[in-house]
Amino acid sequence: MSHLRHQRTWMVLIFLLAVTALAGGVWRYGYLQALEQLARRAEADLALASDRLSTELQVYQELAVLLTDHPMLVGLDDPTRRKDAQAQLLEVADKTAALDVAFADVTGRILVSANGLTTNDVSDEPYFRRAMQGALGSDHGLRAPLDRRAYYYAAPAFDAAGQVRGTVVVVADVASIELAWPGSAPAVFFTDANGEVFVTNRFELLYWTRPDSGVGLVPPEGPAPEFRAAQTGAHDIWNIRWGPYVPTRALHLQRHLPVVALTGEILVNAAPARRLAWLQASAVAAICLAFGAMLFLATERRRTLAQANAVLESRVAKRTQALSEANVHLRQEISERMEAEAALKRAQADLVQAGKLSALGQMSAGISHELNQPLMAIRSFAENGTQYLERGRSEKAGENLSRIADLAHRMGRIIRNLRAFARQESEEVRQVDIVAILDSVIELTGARMRQDSVDIRFARPDHPIWVRGGDVRLGQVFVNLLTNAADAMEGQDDKCIRIDVNETGPLTVTVRDTGPGIDLPDKVFEPFYSTKVVGVSEGMGLGLSISYGIVQSFGGDIRGENAPDGGAVFSVQLEPWQAEQAA
Ligand SMILES: Nc1ncnc2c1ncn2[C@@H]1O[C@H](COP(=O)(O)OP(=O)(O)OP(=O)(O)O)[C@@H](O)[C@H]1O
Ligand SMILES: [Mg+2]
Repeated sequence: MSHLRHQRTWMVLIFLLAVTALAGGVWRYGYLQALEQLARRAEADLALASDRLSTELQVYQELAVLLTDHPMLVGLDDPTRRKDAQAQLLEVADKTAALDVAFADVTGRILVSANGLTTNDVSDEPYFRRAMQGALGSDHGLRAPLDRRAYYYAAPAFDAAGQVRGTVVVVADVASIELAWPGSAPAVFFTDANGEVFVTNRFELLYWTRPDSGVGLVPPEGPAPEFRAAQTGAHDIWNIRWGPYVPTRALHLQRHLPVVALTGEILVNAAPARRLAWLQASAVAAICLAFGAMLFLATERRRTLAQANAVLESRVAKRTQALSEANVHLRQEISERMEAEAALKRAQADLVQAGKLSALGQMSAGISHELNQPLMAIRSFAENGTQYLERGRSEKAGENLSRIADLAHRMGRIIRNLRAFARQESEEVRQVDIVAILDSVIELTGARMRQDSVDIRFARPDHPIWVRGGDVRLGQVFVNLLTNAADAMEGQDDKCIRIDVNETGPLTVTVRDTGPGIDLPDKVFEPFYSTKVVGVSEGMGLGLSISYGIVQSFGGDIRGENAPDGGAVFSVQLEPWQAEQAA
């Protein structure tokens, strides 16, 4: 379990790492893309600012060149001409917004000046020296007496011989150029060859200089504010704290302007690019996390289900085990039950046999009498026959012999019946003729009935009636019914037993006597219930209970009741033999 939890934790950690790596990649790619766009825009902005500056300065340069050929700047030794020239130059300066327009002779002495803002001697100025060489001179700076940032242009004026006769100096005001720039534009500044900020649209950066390291800027005085430069892809990113109007994280671009001898630089806020990159990265991370969470939940669900399944399976296995044990137990019980049943059957069969033997025992007196009688008759017939033979009356002797044969035949039949009755039946159920069984029962009990002078009336059907059963066991049932009836009628005058076979409706054999009837009809089928405790025919009380079992085993039924006009009636219902059962 804890191993599984460990595995899960590791998987979640690895997934989170992968998402972080992916988000990092997306962030970097998005940032670079955004910086690329930003750089293009910044480039355009810087180009625009640079062009604007150079164009505006160009105007003053051209003004200087134009004025060199102006006639008012000729013959300025004359003070009145000088005065006129000054007035004209002032007009030019006013119209062009130049700080000053002046003319210097070859020694660098200012002959005439529009505003008098220039020093009287410019011989040391580099722009003047350059002009004296016949080229266009230019310079910028903060110079006395003019306490302003200014751009200086100097153009040489030639005489007829082509010699430089003087220099036109035009001074342009940088601040007025700056004022025309829109303040909302990104921070732009122009540094000169010394690395000093000379022109800018953020005045706080004015006169800041490039430090020895060559990157960034430091203010002219005071501590240098925080500065860090980093390279992101091909882009230069500055992390700075240069005041509220300069972005803290800025994309830095620069561009050389040889015409004005300055380097234009721009600082564009890189924060939106970073924000965009963050946005993209967090969107990707959020999507990945959402998918991951869904996946995690799904696997968790599946695992929970699998666990529940395993629990269920183990329960089912336990239940199955219990069931199969119960099954084994049941089988054991069944086999025990079957053994008990078999034992019961054996006991019942033994009981049937015992009952039969007891009946035989009871009948033995009658039967021995029955056999004795023909034997005695045979003896007297034999003796008489001998005498007839001695007397030569052979026909009479033959008559006696045939009587003897008849009697022997009759004895043989009685003995055969007895043997058949004593036999133990092996077959469960077969097709038997109930009429023949009743015939043999009447014959078997004949001696007893005759002895007791019982009148047996059998309404014998003239055709066989086939039923399901066994002849010995059915014979046993009817022997018991007849002897019971005879026992019940003992000691009375009118003794009659009626046997009827009822074929309409269910096949029933009724045995009715003229005796006193049954004392307790409900109890007669109980084993060991007997009223015959004394006398010749002492009974075990088993006859009817054995009969009950026999008839039931053939699918039939036996009932005993008292007839309304006196006497007992026992009815044995039997199942007729169906042809298809034999098949
Ligand atoms: N025809 C009948 N009339 C009156 N009572 C009867 C008749 N048949 C049976 N009984 C009563 O039912 C009892 C039980 O009969 P059953 O045949 O079971 O036993 P038993 O005849 O007494 O003894 P066993 O048949 O074992 O020798 C008898 O003792 C008798 O009281
Ligand atoms: Mg009996």
